[in-house]
Amino acid sequence: MSAQDRQDAAGDLAGPRVERVFPRGATFEDGWLTALGGVDVTELAARYDTPLYVLDLAELRGRMRAYREAFTGWHVAYASKALCVAGVLQLAAAEGLHVDVASAGELATAQRAGVPGPSIIFHGNNKSESELDLACRVGVGRVVVDSFTELHRLADIAQRRDHTFDVLLRVTPGVDTSTHAFIRTGHDDSKFGFTLSTGLAADAVRAAAKLDGVRLRGLHCHLGSQLTSAQIYGRAASIMTAFLAEISDLQDVQLDELNLGGGLGIAYTHEAPVSVEEYAATVRDAVAAGRTRYGLPPLRLTVEPGRSIVGPAGVTLYRVGTVKPLESGPTYVSVDGGMSDNLRPALYGAVHTFAPAGPPRPGETAPVSVVGKHCESGDFLGRDVGLPAGTREGDLLAVAATGAYTHAMASNYNRVPRPAMVLVDGGRSHLLVRRETLDDVLGRDQLLDLDA
Ligand code: LLP
Repeated sequence: MSAQDRQDAAGDLAGPRVERVFPRGATFEDGWLTALGGVDVTELAARYDTPLYVLDLAELRGRMRAYREAFTGWHVAYASKALCVAGVLQLAAAEGLHVDVASAGELATAQRAGVPGPSIIFHGNNKSESELDLACRVGVGRVVVDSFTELHRLADIAQRRDHTFDVLLRVTPGVDTSTHAFIRTGHDDSKFGFTLSTGLAADAVRAAAKLDGVRLRGLHCHLGSQLTSAQIYGRAASIMTAFLAEISDLQDVQLDELNLGGGLGIAYTHEAPVSVEEYAATVRDAVAAGRTRYGLPPLRLTVEPGRSIVGPAGVTLYRVGTVKPLESGPTYVSVDGGMSDNLRPALYGAVHTFAPAGPPRPGETAPVSVVGKHCESGDFLGRDVGLPAGTREGDLLAVAATGAYTHAMASNYNRVPRPAMVLVDGGRSHLLVRRETLDDVLGRDQLLDLDA
């Protein structure tokens, strides 16, 4: 945690810094979160129990619409890995977004949500035979090919099923980013894609062009996630348009499609990522400049945002359990969830913004460590978090910007059932995902017959 993060986290409860990272439908009184989407937080916790993922519909829709408007004329594909639940994919499709999936499970969710096959983009660095077969049956619009092995798998399935796959090649453009190493993908030695600088990408174009059942439509790249500047996208766009031109010069293959991936960051605490509008303007300008410079035809263009659509719309509500002040260390405030419902602090050292939730109680603020209920010391949600000095058992605690990659990466560690998720808007709440039960968790275990 940086000094700035610590200072921010331990800062005043009330105030624009805290409130700006909560969704637009959040209501605060004296620094306490009292309602989300017009629904009282105490009521939400009583009705659905905690931990509870809450999604603010106005924020979610507003972000989907902002993307559609900023990228008019482009395809905007919601990267479902950020939060893949049927209701959210239904909303994305209703708002005119395409959907990016990266497994059979995400693909099946898109189908359940009624997303039309041609609007689905299928990703992954190790798509199995059966996943590709499903993609064929669903008739996905694009398969983003990540390896030579996959190209041949596709050609085999195409032949067997008398099908033609429309594919993009995932290219690693050699653009490094300053984000966390685990979510960096545009650098040359990434596990994803065909490296441009070593000639692998050009080899892949040649190989794809020769295969029956594979129709090469264009190129894809994804630089990484939680990127806060737009300049890097401008660089990627110019590298990719140059490569499109190189392909048509060298191999006489005219590709007219470019997908620039996702990755726009959001504010978790003090970050100030560029707006969707600024990001779109930079990318659009760079693509237009590349087209002019290299005399490219009109392109079919796509972006794939995930986090910047769902992240800021989500809030997690926890209930405080034990509070343990240590003479030799921090005060530990334990909540009823933790790394099983939000792995990001433990995995990436991610820092979130917290707020006490419920009817406000006046009082001082003190720094505490918010920890989960799991059996390991790495299970923390926030360090040096400024909370009311009298925070006690039974209080509600809200964590902002938890819409992306929390539920999506949730586990049953310690056999803890995963939380429910609700959508709130206009004073009403709708269940999106029901809470897991112990029967759900235990249901797959098979007892041994030790007497046999
Ligand atoms: N397209 C592709 C090919 C991707 O791999 C990803 C994310 C996206 C789009 C969407 O990126 P976004 O707009 O959400 O940044 N679990 C990590 C993030 C992993 C991102 C994986 N790929 C986290 O919690 O930060």
